[in-house]
Amino acid sequence: MKKELPREFLWGGAVAAHQIEGAWQEAGKGISIADVMTAGSNTTQRQITDGVLPDTYYPNHEAIDFYHRYREDIQLFKTLGLKCFRTSISWARIFPKGDETLPNEAGLQFYDDLFDELLKNGIEPVITLSHFEIPYQLYETYGGFKNKKLIDFFVNYADVVMRRFKDKVSYWLTFNEINNQADGQHSLHTWTNSAVLIEADEIAEEVIYQASLNELIASAKVVKLGHEINPAFKIGAMMAYVPVYPFSAKPEDQMAASKVMERRYFYSDIHARGVIPSYTLKDWEQKGYQIDYTESELQSLKEGTVDYIGFSYYMSGTVTTQKEETVSGHKIPDFPNAKVVKNPYVKASDWGWQIDPVGLRYVLNTVYQRYNLPLFIVENGFGAYDKLSDEGQIHDGYRIAYLKAHIQEMKKAILDDGVPVIGYTPWGIIDLVSFGTGEMEKRYGMIYVDKDNAGKGTLERRIKESYTWYQKVIQSNGEEL
Ligand code: BG6
Repeated sequence: MKKELPREFLWGGAVAAHQIEGAWQEAGKGISIADVMTAGSNTTQRQITDGVLPDTYYPNHEAIDFYHRYREDIQLFKTLGLKCFRTSISWARIFPKGDETLPNEAGLQFYDDLFDELLKNGIEPVITLSHFEIPYQLYETYGGFKNKKLIDFFVNYADVVMRRFKDKVSYWLTFNEINNQADGQHSLHTWTNSAVLIEADEIAEEVIYQASLNELIASAKVVKLGHEINPAFKIGAMMAYVPVYPFSAKPEDQMAASKVMERRYFYSDIHARGVIPSYTLKDWEQKGYQIDYTESELQSLKEGTVDYIGFSYYMSGTVTTQKEETVSGHKIPDFPNAKVVKNPYVKASDWGWQIDPVGLRYVLNTVYQRYNLPLFIVENGFGAYDKLSDEGQIHDGYRIAYLKAHIQEMKKAILDDGVPVIGYTPWGIIDLVSFGTGEMEKRYGMIYVDKDNAGKGTLERRIKESYTWYQKVIQSNGEEL
């Protein structure tokens, strides 16, 4: 019998509001945490400024101006054949300061119009509630998610949008890549996940645990509430899965890799199983961390387990306990007793991200074995420099090769291993502002946007070779790669 992907498989594309919309002050929108992030590069960190400073370039303020151009962009998505489009609602458009009780109608109207336009063109919206767009004032007044008050603010925001869009959106995700912050060395991650900056007298890890747990409680409450609003809602977690392999067969290396993975599993274990894992409770006890939670919050975790696991997959990592190995300078930070090293069996992108398609099959298998829940690959893609040919075309064979290899491995997981996968939405279907570096020239799109790292360009859109390739992939339901 011929093995085929299910007819209802959701081929799509993914973006986030702050990386495409621009219009940072339009129609009553408040300042979000992304609005105070400057441009960086492969070698320079983005800075988080104290409010919006004059004479400073903030790449997300205009982004690719999707806010004003979405109708034309959706026509390109339609011709591409997208069945779904993953984006986020910018929290600061709905609650400009974050702690109001009543929402900003103009913000809601924008998303009403956007979702109508998608649906009219046969494209299903897949919506992230929090993708690095927390209202800035929630940091200024409350210190971000380390403060429990944010749980209620988030639930109120989710309540408003889930009611408003209950007949337009079925697939929801709560917090984007909620586990990024576990790699606590990067202030960018605690900032974008939780609107938290670590103070000099704080223990970073303890604060991150507290903010993370508060978010997991908020997420669970929203899952329960969402099912009351519309029982047909499918509400998922959103994890960044970077599988971490042991460098060698040395048992200590295996143990180290497994311990490093616990940092990620802490989040999806709570999302999916509704309890704080025993390895985390032990960690808190051993380190003397005072993490604040109540019986009623533990009950909320139990009552709000997710319907599916959404995740991003870009790369794998490798760790060793063998100190003599050279450290690679890879983007994953070191862990106690485990050094991050280069994997000799895989190549890396220009930004040092290890390219490992088999790792995607491995993640699909291991995560499904762990939770028995449907999975949704809501991000996967290749950030690269693109060049316009003399004829004005973009031949991005390297991107096609990356996507093709990952789709092949995804198909093996579905068709040979029996893993249920809802869909596949490659990241940055249209060029957008890089989250990590703030660059425009780290491009993921199948649609080129004329804009450079300094913010110059006409914003004109042009299709790339990968666009035509993906069109065929979707038309053939993944048969023609
Ligand atoms: C994920 C995020 O980290 O990966 C996206 O969910 C991000 O927001 C994407 O853009 C790629 O990362 P980067 O740093 O290359 O933009």
